[in-house]
Amino acid sequence: MSQSTIESTNKKEVNRGKAPAKETILSPRFYTTDFEAMENMDLSINEEELEAICEEFRKDYNRHHFVRNSEFEGAAEKLDPETRELFVDFLEGSCTSEFSGFLLYKELSKRIKDKNPLLAECFAHMARDEARHAGFLNKSMSDFGLQLDLGFLTANKDYTYFPPRSIFYATYLSEKIGYWRYIAIYRHLEKNPDSKIFPLFNYFENWCQDENRHGDFFDALMKAQPRTVKSLSQKITIGGSTFTHPLFDYFHRFRYFLNNLPLTSKLWSRFFLLAVFATMYARDLGIKKDFYSSLGLDARDYDQFVINKTNETAARVFPVVMDVYDKSFYGRLDKIVENNKVLFDIANSDGNKVSKTFKKLPKYLSNGYQLLRLYLLKPLDSKDFQPSIR
Ligand SMILES: [Fe+2]
Ligand SMILES: [Fe+2]
Repeated sequence: MSQSTIESTNKKEVNRGKAPAKETILSPRFYTTDFEAMENMDLSINEEELEAICEEFRKDYNRHHFVRNSEFEGAAEKLDPETRELFVDFLEGSCTSEFSGFLLYKELSKRIKDKNPLLAECFAHMARDEARHAGFLNKSMSDFGLQLDLGFLTANKDYTYFPPRSIFYATYLSEKIGYWRYIAIYRHLEKNPDSKIFPLFNYFENWCQDENRHGDFFDALMKAQPRTVKSLSQKITIGGSTFTHPLFDYFHRFRYFLNNLPLTSKLWSRFFLLAVFATMYARDLGIKKDFYSSLGLDARDYDQFVINKTNETAARVFPVVMDVYDKSFYGRLDKIVENNKVLFDIANSDGNKVSKTFKKLPKYLSNGYQLLRLYLLKPLDSKDFQPSIR
C-alpha cells in the first residue's frame, strides 16, 4: 500500500475495501455488555480505592502530552516502502483497538450515569484518554495519506457481547498488556535511538501510564466485584423475544451464584490469560514479525517479555495465573505459530477449496490440541507467586 494509491479523500473506500479482509480472530474487537447489570453494581467494599483512582483521572496528567511537534514533519517520507507498509498496519491496528476502548467506555459512562455516577465518571475519563490515543494515532496515519474512518468503523464493525465479569477480565488484561507493550518498545528505543522509525514512539512513556491507570481501575473494580454483580432483571431473551416473569430473577441469581464460585474465577482467569497471550503471540510472531524487526526487536523475545510481565501483574488480582515458566508453555505457542505458517501457505497455494480444507484440518486440530494442553497446564497460585507485591 503506498501513499500514491490511497489518498485521504477516499478513506471510506479504503476502509470498506480493507475491513472485511482483515476481520480475523486476531483483529481488534468491539465489545458491548449488560449495561443494566453494570449500573446495578454495588461498589461499597472498594469504593475508597475507586474514588482515589477517579481523583487521579480527574487530574488528567496527559492533558498536554499529545501535542505533535516539528519532528513529525517529513518523518513519513523517510521510511522505505516496506517499513512504511508495516508501520501503517501497526498504526491501523493500534488506532482500532484504542478506538474500541473509547466506544465501550463512552457507552458505559452514558448508560450508567444516573444509577452509578462514580463508575460512570471513571469510564468517561478513560473514554477521554482512549479518544486522545486513537486521535493521535489517526493523525500519524494522515502523515501517510490515510485516515481511519472512525464513524464508519463504529457503524459497521461487529460488536461482541461479553457479560460484565468477562469485560473486566478482558479489558483489565488488554490495558495491562498495552502498558507492557508500550513501555517495552519505549525502553528499547531509548537504548537504540537509530531504530526509532517514527517520532510517535517518543510519546509512549506517558501514554502507557494512561493504560496502566486504566488497568488499575479494573483491578479496583474487580476487587469491589464481581461477587456483588447481580442482575435483578426479570427478563429473559430467547430467540429475539423477551419474556418477563419473577422466576427469571431466580434464574439470574442462580447463574451469578455459579459464576461466583472460586473455581469458576480460576477457570475464567486461565481462559482469559491464555486467550490474550496466545492471540498476541500468534499475531506478533506471524503477520507482525517484520514490524518488530523494523524496530530492531525480536518478536519472540519481545512477546515473551510482555507476556511474563503481564502475567506477573495479573497475579495481583487474578486468583491464578499461567505457568509461563514451564518449558512447554512457549513450546506449544511456538507450535501454533508454526502451524499458522503452514495454514497460511496452504491458503495461498493452488488447489480447490475441498482439498485445501483437508490439508488444513490436521493443523487446526493440532492448534486446538496445543491450546487445550495449555489451558490444562497447572496454573500458578497467585498468592504464592508474588508474595512481595501482595
Ligand atoms: Fe489507550
Ligand atoms: Fe486504556
